[in-house]
Amino acid sequence: MNTLITNIGELTTNTDAGTLHDAAVLIEDGRVAWAGAVADTGTIPEPVEGVEVVDAAGRAVIPGFVDSHSHLVFAGDRTSEFEARMAGQKYAAGGIRSTVAATRAATDDELRTRLRGFMDEMLAQGTTTVEIKSGYGLTVADEERLVRLAAEVTAEVTFLGAHVVPAEYADDPDAYVALVTGPMLEACAPHARWIDVFCETGAFTVEQSRRVLEAGIASGLIPRVHASQLGPGGGVRLAVELGAASIDHGTYLTDDDVAALAGSDTVLTLLPGVEFSTRQPYPDARRLIDAGVTVALACDTNPGSSFTSSMPFCIAIAVRDMGMTPVEALWAATAGGARALRRDDVGRISPGSRADLVLLDAPSHVHLSYRPGVPLVTRVWKDGASHG
Ligand code: NIG
Ligand code: FE
Repeated sequence: MNTLITNIGELTTNTDAGTLHDAAVLIEDGRVAWAGAVADTGTIPEPVEGVEVVDAAGRAVIPGFVDSHSHLVFAGDRTSEFEARMAGQKYAAGGIRSTVAATRAATDDELRTRLRGFMDEMLAQGTTTVEIKSGYGLTVADEERLVRLAAEVTAEVTFLGAHVVPAEYADDPDAYVALVTGPMLEACAPHARWIDVFCETGAFTVEQSRRVLEAGIASGLIPRVHASQLGPGGGVRLAVELGAASIDHGTYLTDDDVAALAGSDTVLTLLPGVEFSTRQPYPDARRLIDAGVTVALACDTNPGSSFTSSMPFCIAIAVRDMGMTPVEALWAATAGGARALRRDDVGRISPGSRADLVLLDAPSHVHLSYRPGVPLVTRVWKDGASHG
């Protein structure tokens, strides 16, 4: 179905055209054919037969959210861990092992049903591109099925066999790294685009992380790194050195980390849902942006550290508690996510880009943080197909 959206009160393009008022967008064959201000509508290409005209009635249209960090293939429940944290207990990465046990015990169909449920939940909230990591299998067969299931629903699949050292390798973590960089990588690489590692005290050292990332690169995968979530460490500088597309978390960054990021192409993906759900301090995004770091926002949907799938919620936190302006937060949740995934066909609204758009029931994108918790996403187009 081809669609002409007219009477758009505010159109965020994430291009040099900036934010337009009284605008229109023409969608043809799943792509944006034209986007601009109505004063120029004479230049809209003649819509092909059967175009649906949607009157935005002065409301805002933004690019679909690009959520560049999630862990959606898992089983089990960790509600009680969250309750304990809210009562004062600290977050510990060791909880990952309980999800690993439940995930190993689940069937493909159980995992698939839940995964698809999350994808629907995200689409309804305006997320049109999702990256999904493995990491709750931690055997060759289980990691292979997690990346395979993820690949059924997204092109952005990340092999995260190096999430934590599973209990059966607790006495010999290097043997586990050898498994990850050998047979596990071989089984998973065909389904994945990205290689990731949790470089943190209690997970993998910088040296082990380097081995994992370099093996992934040698298999044709592109690196991204979980680092500086629980404390400062060498993960950020390793990520920059290896040309990672993104380093994610960055809750505890040193001045050296910030300087390294600022002089690099590596995106820093902030995950406000994690600090919300673990009561850790919110990172100061203002300091990072002012230093020249490219910042993205993502949900990190997972049963342990962040169980939100709402990009508007993350935007609201980023504006309220991390020093981002509403326009910076929206950019980070759309174009920033696209940058973190090295994509230029999403996260923007311009001729040729994918027709991934969100109509807000609000006159401006500012309402995403001004009206937190209100379901403002009223209609979503993904590849030109309308949902909601
Ligand atoms: O991104 N940091 C490591 N992995 C996840 C948490 C996973 C879990 O607690 O189950 C994260 O926060
Ligand atoms: Fe994560």
